[in-house]
Amino acid sequence: MGNRLIGYGSYLPEKIMTNADFEKILDTTDEWILSRTGIKQRHFAREDETVSDMATIAARRALENANLQPDDIDLIIVATTSAEMAFPSVGAMVSRDLGMTNNAPAFDVRAACTGYVYALHCARAFFNAGMHNRIMVIGAEKMSRYIDWRERSTAVLFGDGAGAMIFEHSSSNYSGIIDTVVDADGHGYGMLHESNHQSVEMNGPETYKHAVQLMPEAANYIMDHAGIQAENIDWIIPHQANLRIIESGAQRLGFPLEKIIITVDQHANTSGASGALAFAWGMDNGKIKHGQLIMYPAFGSGLTWGAAMIRV
Ligand code: ACO
Repeated sequence: MGNRLIGYGSYLPEKIMTNADFEKILDTTDEWILSRTGIKQRHFAREDETVSDMATIAARRALENANLQPDDIDLIIVATTSAEMAFPSVGAMVSRDLGMTNNAPAFDVRAACTGYVYALHCARAFFNAGMHNRIMVIGAEKMSRYIDWRERSTAVLFGDGAGAMIFEHSSSNYSGIIDTVVDADGHGYGMLHESNHQSVEMNGPETYKHAVQLMPEAANYIMDHAGIQAENIDWIIPHQANLRIIESGAQRLGFPLEKIIITVDQHANTSGASGALAFAWGMDNGKIKHGQLIMYPAFGSGLTWGAAMIRV
């Protein structure tokens, strides 16, 4: 029982905040942010724009791309850690806002920056079990909700947005979500978590150290697990947290930078939305082509980490 990718879509809020804009409100510089993170700008949602609003736009675009109607989907999985409400799920709100009438199940997955890999992991399991025919996997985040605008060490790192992919049941085991691996170690709580003031509390250097180790480990693990050689992978879409982490990971894996999709400069870290947004960017810019093989390693709060292998 396999699956294939039949559509994708993305959404970035209109408002762009550049590093120069941050210079006006914080004791920081474009030079510091760019040299430490590779980030040039990020998109921020309007105050009245919710995670489900962004997710729904990305979902609509994915449906258009796949030439499908909302009721053609029979499961929605949303990776998000920034929903405004604990309940109902963003998935349920997306199904409402798409106007779905088929009672398709919808739920959220919460695994911070590894969320999209976890959501793909769930989708693969449902396909393997033969339980669903068409699954929409959405990553959507409003990370600006967690920004402490006085805290320069974290405020500059994040952005908002949403991306979606639609997978359909297929008899081939070599298309769509081919493989996934996911891990968690709750002892890493202190490194990166929500503070009592609902902002990001992070030990940057410790997070950095773990990210440069765990993302390449996840990449090697999934290549072994899937029986795929590095030279057969066309693109790596790493979780877009920091350009230095991406470059270091690529170097450890022996992958040339030309094979890495990089959007952190434009989007900053959009947590659970980053992989789907980077994929859409790669498609829209003619980099990723039909039939190509993509490896998507991610790392985030939890600690959580993992990787997905997708044939386009
Ligand atoms: N502008 C100017 N100076 C700053 C800024 C800023 N925006 N932020 C911090 N500094 C200062 C600090 O105050 C510190 O000054 P001090 O030496 O006088 O105390 C100095 O810069 C160095 O601070 P460090 O935190 O040691 O800087 P570092 O080189 O480690 O870079 C960074 C910080 C970019 C956060 C880095 O640690 C990093 O990328 N870590 C990983 C973060 C990450 O990717 N998190 C998310 C991944 S998981 C997920 O996605 C949820």
